[in-house]
Amino acid sequence: MIRSEDPWKQGWDLAVALMVLLNSIFIPLHLIHGHDPLLVVLVGVLGCLLYSADIMLEFMTVYPSGGEWLSEPRQRFQHYLKNGLVTDVLAALPWVLLGQAGLLPGGYLVLVLLPLLKLLKVNRTVRRIGQNIINPAIFRLGLLVFWILMAAHIIACGWIMVSGNPDSLSPLDHYIKAFYWTMTTLTTIGYGDITPSGRYQMLYVIMIEMFGAAMYGLVIGNIAGLIANIDVAKRQYRDKLDRIGAFLKYRGLPDQLMAKIHSYYSYLWDTRKGYDELAFLEDLPIALRESVALYLNKGIIEKVPIFEHASASLIRDIILKLEPAVFTPGDQIVRAGEPGRDMFFISKGSVSVLSADESMTYATLGSGQFFGEISLLLSMPRTATIKADSFCDLYRLDKLQFDRVVEQYPDFKQSIQTMAEKRREEIEARSARQA
Ligand code: CMP
Repeated sequence: MIRSEDPWKQGWDLAVALMVLLNSIFIPLHLIHGHDPLLVVLVGVLGCLLYSADIMLEFMTVYPSGGEWLSEPRQRFQHYLKNGLVTDVLAALPWVLLGQAGLLPGGYLVLVLLPLLKLLKVNRTVRRIGQNIINPAIFRLGLLVFWILMAAHIIACGWIMVSGNPDSLSPLDHYIKAFYWTMTTLTTIGYGDITPSGRYQMLYVIMIEMFGAAMYGLVIGNIAGLIANIDVAKRQYRDKLDRIGAFLKYRGLPDQLMAKIHSYYSYLWDTRKGYDELAFLEDLPIALRESVALYLNKGIIEKVPIFEHASASLIRDIILKLEPAVFTPGDQIVRAGEPGRDMFFISKGSVSVLSADESMTYATLGSGQFFGEISLLLSMPRTATIKADSFCDLYRLDKLQFDRVVEQYPDFKQSIQTMAEKRREEIEARSARQA
């Protein structure tokens, strides 16, 4: 059994998509200009073989649905039936070869176009694979442009068929002229320099004009939305800033405070594109949240030396309990003498450890270090004041969670305790020296 997500199956789907594209460009061109018969046979045989193999592979492929893999043969068949079995079979029949061999009567020449049905599958394949790789809005925009060009190519070939080549242009010039006519008609510009004559040409033009009007509406309706969505994060962030700016003005906040708020938001934009990690995680089911949090917070786990030899279960337990917190330069994060409610791990930035009156700096802590553990471990008031020297990205662990973790993991408690005692002694020694 093959899973639809297997890399080689995706590679195969892309190879089929490429063949379909070649076929879709080549078959209409062949119909109007007639190509080297050997080339037609080659492309026809290759297409049939590839498409037939594709059908066999599809029967062996399991797809996910409703959270489980459809592995029963009946389920697989039903899934394929709903997702292009008929078009795949029609596209795999050797129409081009039959046409070439003169086995299709002239009026049924249109059957030769049946392999183009496979384009529907290209759409599904490209959507499935491409959407995770490229920005979804840019991807949809690209797909829209691709379909317009593909439709224009087929319509241009149709125009060549119905209008002939009265000016005896070279095949290339003839095609360019037909493509030009198609684009002016589809975009409803219609210069009128190329006009239909005769019943069939007029009927063809009426059909294309109707198609063009519908397509034009669809394109105009979609493009504005797609462009606005290219950078959803930036648009939402700008909207948020506008709303905040209006509110601050309305409440008449002092300029200095306003500037601080603005620099806080620009820091959030620079470091996390304005996304709220916590809100995002809360939306996920618990198991998935754990895996995502583990990935998102692996930076801090790698940075903090006391986690270096920690067991996988401690890391898993602690990771979900860490809450990101941002502080701006000069913010007081912890105040000496107050009861301790949480401890912090520094992911980015630096803080100063100060005496209660802020006259003495005991230490400067940076990325990978922690603070706020003494009051939690020794159940005493905060021993120092902590101020942010720069923008600081911290991870906060509240007292309740801290108590649970140290109770469950004595080794972790031991390493924090060693550090806490050393720091406390240092503070006491410095205070005694000063006194
Ligand atoms: P806590 O007492 O809870 O709050 C203040 C924090 O400052 C304290 O925990 C320690 O984490 C930290 N701290 C105190 N003294 C020092 C020191 N000498 N060096 C580094 N950090 C310290």
